[in-house]
Amino acid sequence: MASTLLYEDLAGRLGAQIRRGLLRPGERLPSLRRLGRQERVSIATAVEAYLRLEREGLVEARERSGYFVRAQRVAVPAARLPRVQARAPQALRNPALLGVLDVLSREDLLPLHVTTPAPELLPGRAIAAATTHVLRRDPGVALAYGAPQGLPALREQIARRYLRCGVEVDPGEIVVTAGAMEAITLALRSVTRAGDVVLLETPTYYGILQAISALGLRAIEVPNRVGSGIDAAALRALLARHAVRAAVLVPNFNNPTGSLTGDDDKREIVAACGEHGVTVIEDDLYGELAYSGERPAPLRRYAGRTSVITCSSYSKTLAPGLRIGWALAGTHVDDLVRAKCFSSVATAGLPQRAITEYLVRHDFDRALRRLRRELATNAQRWRDAIRRGWPEGTRVSDPAGGTTLWLELAGGVDAQALFEAAVARGIGCLPGHLFSLRGDYRTHLRLGLGLAWSPPVEAALRELGRLAGRFARRRTPKEGHE
Ligand SMILES: Cc1ncc(COP(=O)(O)O)c(C=O)c1O
Repeated sequence: MASTLLYEDLAGRLGAQIRRGLLRPGERLPSLRRLGRQERVSIATAVEAYLRLEREGLVEARERSGYFVRAQRVAVPAARLPRVQARAPQALRNPALLGVLDVLSREDLLPLHVTTPAPELLPGRAIAAATTHVLRRDPGVALAYGAPQGLPALREQIARRYLRCGVEVDPGEIVVTAGAMEAITLALRSVTRAGDVVLLETPTYYGILQAISALGLRAIEVPNRVGSGIDAAALRALLARHAVRAAVLVPNFNNPTGSLTGDDDKREIVAACGEHGVTVIEDDLYGELAYSGERPAPLRRYAGRTSVITCSSYSKTLAPGLRIGWALAGTHVDDLVRAKCFSSVATAGLPQRAITEYLVRHDFDRALRRLRRELATNAQRWRDAIRRGWPEGTRVSDPAGGTTLWLELAGGVDAQALFEAAVARGIGCLPGHLFSLRGDYRTHLRLGLGLAWSPPVEAALRELGRLAGRFARRRTPKEGHE
C-alpha cells in the first residue's frame, strides 16, 4: 500500500511546480514507472500522487497517453470595449485595413495572428488519403465540373451534422461555396442592394467589413460584449430606429472577442429581426469549436418564421486551403444558387469529394475532440504567458471556444505602433482597429490561437509583451501602468 506521507509529499511538490509554471499546461508528466524511478517511490505511491493532483484539478489523465498538466484558469482581467455611441449608418472608412492585411501575407513572420489551426492540429493525413482515394477511384468524375449548388452527398453530410444541435436542414436548401466568406457574400448579394443598411456587430471580423464595402452597403453597429456576445436589447433598439435589410452576426465565438452569445439573447435577436423583416446572415464558422460541453446552437435553431441564412465552412476544422463552405439558404436557395453560378459556376469538385469521403470514412468527431482540447490548452497557455510577461493592467478575453484572444493594452498603448514594431521583429499580430468600420479599438490587439505551442511561440509572446511594456512606459512616464 502507498505511504500516505510519501504520496502527499510527492503530489505537493509536483503541484507547486505546476503552480509556479515550471510544468506548463498541456505538458506530459512522467509515466508512473519513470516517476517511481525518479522519485524512488513505488508505482502505487506515484498513482496516488497523480490521483490527488487530478482531484485538485491540476492534472488530467488522457486515455492511453498518461497524465498531463491541465490548463489553469489564470486571473487576467477581462478585456473591455469602449462605449459604442448611437451612430448613423456608415460605409466602411478604414483605409488601414488593406495595408495591414498586405503585411500579414508575408511568409517570414511568426504568425501570432493566425486563427486557423496549425497543420499539426488538423487531420491532414486522413484528408490526403481521402483525396487520393477519390482521384484514384474515378479521376474523370473527380476532375469534372460539378453542379452550382454543390455535391448532393456533401450537402447530405452537412445536413446530418446539424441534427445534433437540434436543427433540421433539408440538403436541398444547402449551397456549397468556396469557404464561409463566399457564402456570406452570396447571401448579402441575394438579399441586399447597394446603399442598403446592414446591421453588424462591433467589433467584427474584417472580412465581413470588406464584403459590405465591396457591395456598396452601409452599416450600423451593435456591441459585441466581451464574454457575453451580442447585446439583444441594443439590437432591438437599433432595429426600431433604422430601416435595416440584413444583419450579419457571429454569435458563436465571435472573431475577434471569442464571445459566445447566450441562448436567450439568440432567441431575442432572431425574434426582433423577424418582427422587422430583417434577414439574418449568421456566420457560424466557430460553432464546432467549444472548448467543453455541447456545441452551441446556431441562430437558425430559433428561426421559426424569421429568415436565417447560416454560413460556415471546414476552414477551421479540417482544411482551410480546400475552400469548402456552405450556406443553409432556406427560402433564398434559388437566389444563392444563381449568384454562385454567375460568380464562379460551381465550387471545385475534387475538394468537395475529398471532404465527403473523409466525413463518411473517417472519424471527424475524434479529430474535433482533439482540436478542441488543443485550442482550450492554447487559450490558457497564451493567457498564462500574458499574465507572466505583459505589463500589469493588460486585459484579455477568456474565451470558451474559438481561436481568438482579444486584448486591451495597458497604459493606452497604440496597437498600430505595437503592430509595426512587432512586424519589424518578425512577429505577426493584428491591431484592434481592423475589426471596426471606422477604426475604433486603437488600444486593442487580436491574437490567434491556431499555432502549436513551441519555444519560438513562447518567445514571440514574451517579446510582444516586452514591446507593449516599452510603449506603455513611453506613453505614461509618471503614472506608470494602468
Ligand atoms: C468570423 C469569420 N468568418 C469567416 C471567415 C473566413 O472563413 P473561410 O475561410 O471559410 O472563408 C473567418 C476567417 O478567419 C472568420 O474569422
